[in-house]
Amino acid sequence: MCGIVGYLGHREALPLLMEGLKRLEYRGYDSAGVAIRHGAGFEVCREVGKVASLESKLGQDPSRYRGTEGIAHTRWATHGVPAERNAHPHADDKSGIQLVHNGIIENYQSLKKALESKGHVFRSETDTEVLSMLVGELYEGDLEAAVQAALRGVTGAYAIAVMCAKEPGVMVVARKGSPLMVGLGNDEFVVASDPSAIVAHTTQAFSLDDFTVCRLSREGYRTSSLNNVPVTPKVMELEMKLEEIELGAFPHFMLKEIFEQPDALRNTLSGRIDLKRGDVVLGGLQSSGPDLVKARRIVLTGQGTAWHAALVTEYMIEDFARIPCEVQYAAEFRYRNPIVEEGTVFVAISQSGETADTLAALEEAKERGALTLGMVNVVGSTISRVTDAGVYLRVGPEIGVASTKAFIGQVAVGALMAIYAGRRRHLSIDRTRSLLEELESIPDKIRQVTSQSGSIRDLVARYVDRENWLFLGRGYNYPVALEGALKVKEISYIHAEGMPAAEMKHGPIALIHEGMPCVFVAPKGSQHDKVIGNMQEVRARGGRVIAIATEGDEEIIPHADEIIRVPEVSEALSPLVTTVALQLMAYHAAVLRGHDVDKPRNLAKSVTVE
Ligand code: F6R
Repeated sequence: MCGIVGYLGHREALPLLMEGLKRLEYRGYDSAGVAIRHGAGFEVCREVGKVASLESKLGQDPSRYRGTEGIAHTRWATHGVPAERNAHPHADDKSGIQLVHNGIIENYQSLKKALESKGHVFRSETDTEVLSMLVGELYEGDLEAAVQAALRGVTGAYAIAVMCAKEPGVMVVARKGSPLMVGLGNDEFVVASDPSAIVAHTTQAFSLDDFTVCRLSREGYRTSSLNNVPVTPKVMELEMKLEEIELGAFPHFMLKEIFEQPDALRNTLSGRIDLKRGDVVLGGLQSSGPDLVKARRIVLTGQGTAWHAALVTEYMIEDFARIPCEVQYAAEFRYRNPIVEEGTVFVAISQSGETADTLAALEEAKERGALTLGMVNVVGSTISRVTDAGVYLRVGPEIGVASTKAFIGQVAVGALMAIYAGRRRHLSIDRTRSLLEELESIPDKIRQVTSQSGSIRDLVARYVDRENWLFLGRGYNYPVALEGALKVKEISYIHAEGMPAAEMKHGPIALIHEGMPCVFVAPKGSQHDKVIGNMQEVRARGGRVIAIATEGDEEIIPHADEIIRVPEVSEALSPLVTTVALQLMAYHAAVLRGHDVDKPRNLAKSVTVE
């Protein structure tokens, strides 16, 4: 959601900024812009639509945009429609400020009023222009001081990069609530919302902490609090490899990431399974593990796909560890009056580690005394830093907007946590070993599903013109059905509903009509007969049954119109395999309908605002 890139160094800034913007495209946006320091001021170019449109506008007069300092931005509209006037960078009208911003300034209306009373005239509807004007108003010859002063009066979330015409060779960046990294190259700095725009240039970087300002100049950098107290950032080595964020031979990141899942899962499990002792080794839970084991209640939270992974985890924790467990939407939890008793363990699940609602729910739970744990993919992300302890997913960067391998990582970490706690409560060593052995066999089973990509495409082609799909499942298959429906709707824009199969009779069955695709997640398991009953109900009303079924399951054949086979897996771990079939269905449906799978309309990869 919004992307910032900044460059200060000795190379031409524009190509580097444009390359960075392209790497951040996956975050979601609807307009883009750039400001390059040129002569005594800036050359600014902004455009609605894709980065490619901005690029062709810049290409009309390339010599104007020569310079070695610049800031660039992809905007995902919050305040004001996607329009050139609302795209960033935003200038002030007094001091020669250019500013890009990710986040939301909550008190922008009162700030705007005060600035208007001083004669400032606004040209956009954005909160960002207010911030730019505020910095300009407070500027007295020191950009860093002006930014610090402006941010002291701001509430909300921000990551910003600011330049001033009067201070060549200086860029000031700051953060609260929205991610921002500073890459340290050879006599150059690359600033970006995430490491994917930095790693091609340097692997030395630091993340800014909340309420921290960093002044970059040709002499070096200086980091301080909003009150100008020096802060020492923690410089780290970026682990991201360039090939991880490049398409290679795949047409889309989503497909690449679906196919990466066997390796991603191996990485998640690596070093965490001790078959000899029949145990799980979770370094991240070394000190908090005992509290998890004796928890009186576990609350799992997340949004979207992470929420679905939480549902699977809930079932596993109750199944293996017999600890009362519940799943809450983070956005609901944060605004309720949630009960957090002694012994409550709160687990935040997030790929990005930056989701605003999940972060706020986590802070609420912490405030109320819960032990907070994280299941996060992005190392060093805000959620991973705010939690008391946690387990990283280790699935590598997820660029496709539709989450795929992160779900597999989340469910796998959920399984590890559940088995870890279960083993210390009542799971026998034999059952533990057999679960762990099975987990280790899952990557090959996922590969058996991805190898059917072509036939899944052919199947989907027969239904891709239908505008309403149902996804149904019972028990562990219910969250998988929800995830399948979410995948289909977010990238193919087909209306899809997921629900427990038993719920169908309580209303949704009225929707079923001739030819409506109803996808049943129906591997062999304890409720198989009941699911077959639900299939019959669908067919009796003209619906078409597409079954995700276990290899060798003959019983299902007469009840399904189409079958996608998955290898046999125990019920609890089956979501790791069945979900992959649904991801492929959604992917092919979107491609067949001609959509841009990696950049679905209206969506952002990480939702850093409410
Ligand atoms: C769906 C999807 C979203 C995210 C949700 C949470 O494919 O990607 O539903 O799962 O926005 O994001 P994270 O996991 O980054 O907190």
